[in-house]
Amino acid sequence: MKIAVGADHAGYALKEHLKGFLETLGHRVSDLGAFSEESVDYPDFAAAVARSVAGGEAERGLIVCGTGIGVAIAANKVDGIRAATCNDLFTASKSREHNDANVLTLGARIVGEGLAEDITRTFMESSFEAGRHERRVEKIRALE
Ligand code: RB5
Repeated sequence: MKIAVGADHAGYALKEHLKGFLETLGHRVSDLGAFSEESVDYPDFAAAVARSVAGGEAERGLIVCGTGIGVAIAANKVDGIRAATCNDLFTASKSREHNDANVLTLGARIVGEGLAEDITRTFMESSFEAGRHERRVEKIRALE
């Protein structure tokens, strides 16, 4: 898949690490910044990734900030985006299977590199189960 990635200053180092990890899994990565640990505003980078996914340039998104929460709140303002903060493996799989989440957000101040890799792999490799969940995701779309 083509995956758009982004981060603020708090998530920069983990974003850099996960770029290489995604490439080892065979994905193509589009890095939309930030490009250093200089202090920035996380909604700018969440919006860039969200627009890339909503516009079809990328199939999935990955955004990293301190907690994963701010970037998810911002990304979810963009129509077509279902961003899920997953700092554990259970939510990583369920957000795909039940919610058809298309953007993963991570908290670099919560998870280490090893857990972040496992969460990222789980999110990217899990599939939407559709069925009864299709109707519910359709109701989310209807809110836009
Ligand atoms: C930056 O200090 C921090 O607020 C940000 O990375 C994020 O955690 C916001 O939700």
